[in-house]
Amino acid sequence: MLATTTPSAPSADVPLLGYEAMDRDHADSLALWQVAHDAPAGQLRAPFAAFAKHLREHFARENALMTQHGFFALHCHKDEHTRVLKVVATMEAELEEGNEARARLYVTEHFPDWFHTHLATMDRVTADFLAQAEG
Ligand SMILES: [Fe+2]
Ligand SMILES: [Fe+2]
Repeated sequence: MLATTTPSAPSADVPLLGYEAMDRDHADSLALWQVAHDAPAGQLRAPFAAFAKHLREHFARENALMTQHGFFALHCHKDEHTRVLKVVATMEAELEEGNEARARLYVTEHFPDWFHTHLATMDRVTADFLAQAEG
C-alpha cells in the first residue's frame, strides 16, 4: 500500500465547495503547500516560492470572479486575500535572505488553520453566491 501522507502532516482534506474553478485552486494550493510542508530543513525556499506564486494566482482568480459577479462581500474577502499575501511576501523575503524559521512555522502551524477557516467561511459563501449567480 502507498503511504500518501507523512505522519507529521495535518489532514490533507479540503472541503469541496461545489464551484469547480475554486475547488481546483484549493486542491492545487494544498498540494503545493504539502510539498513546502515536507521540504527538508534548509530547502524550503523553492517550494515556498511555488506555493506563494500559486496562492497569488488563486486569490487573483477569486477576486476576478467576485468582481465579475458583483459579490456582496467582495471587499471583505479581497482584503483578507491581500492581508495573507503580504504575510506570505514577508516570508518569501526572509527565505531569500536564508532565514526560514518563520516561513517554516507558517507552513506547519498557521497556514493549515487559516486555509481551513477561510474555506469554511469566506470561500464557502463566495462559492454559493457564484453558483447561484451563474445558475
Ligand atoms: Fe480560495
Ligand atoms: Fe478566498
